[in-house]
Amino acid sequence: MLDRPFHPMFVHFPIALYLLGVLLTLGYLGRRVVDYERFAYWAFVLAWMGVAAAALAGLIDLGSLAPDDPRRDDINRHITSGVALLIINGLVVYFRFRWPDVLTGSRRWAYLALMAAGAVVVVLTGWLGGKLVYDLQVGVR
Ligand code: HEM
Repeated sequence: MLDRPFHPMFVHFPIALYLLGVLLTLGYLGRRVVDYERFAYWAFVLAWMGVAAAALAGLIDLGSLAPDDPRRDDINRHITSGVALLIINGLVVYFRFRWPDVLTGSRRWAYLALMAAGAVVVVLTGWLGGKLVYDLQVGVR
């Protein structure tokens, strides 16, 4: 469409917004400022939208890759990680939406574990994406 990869224009938003959500949640746990927790929720909502937009753009970029490209295995690992992030980030948003007091209620540890898993997966997804571009030259002409 633009004669260059489309996906890199979107990837920074989910990474930055998800990690912002984690930082704000930790800030809330440390200082109990309610606004931190509210901002964290909206950061996770926007992060989820960013993951969905990045995934769509990534699928568009994949269209220009030959079906028998030898780098497909690495690309599939990146996609698996991206889809896992979409699910985990979606669950984080769902938990907070369904139980607004999730950080003080009985589901607190499940929510925090989910959020921590998402932080690992968002970093992993970015790292695997960087490997595609900087080591394997996917999308580089
Ligand atoms: C699940 C669907 C996804 C697909 C099909 C996909 C596909 C790709 C492809 C083909 C590339 C190589 C560059 C290009 O041609 O665009 C790439 C790079 C990259 N991807 Fe993804 N991706 C997906 C999800 C994500 C998500 C959710 C993130 C972020 C959280 C992400 C982060 C990255 C990063 C950081 C790069 C390296 C960009 C650069 O430094 O130029 N990807 N991805």
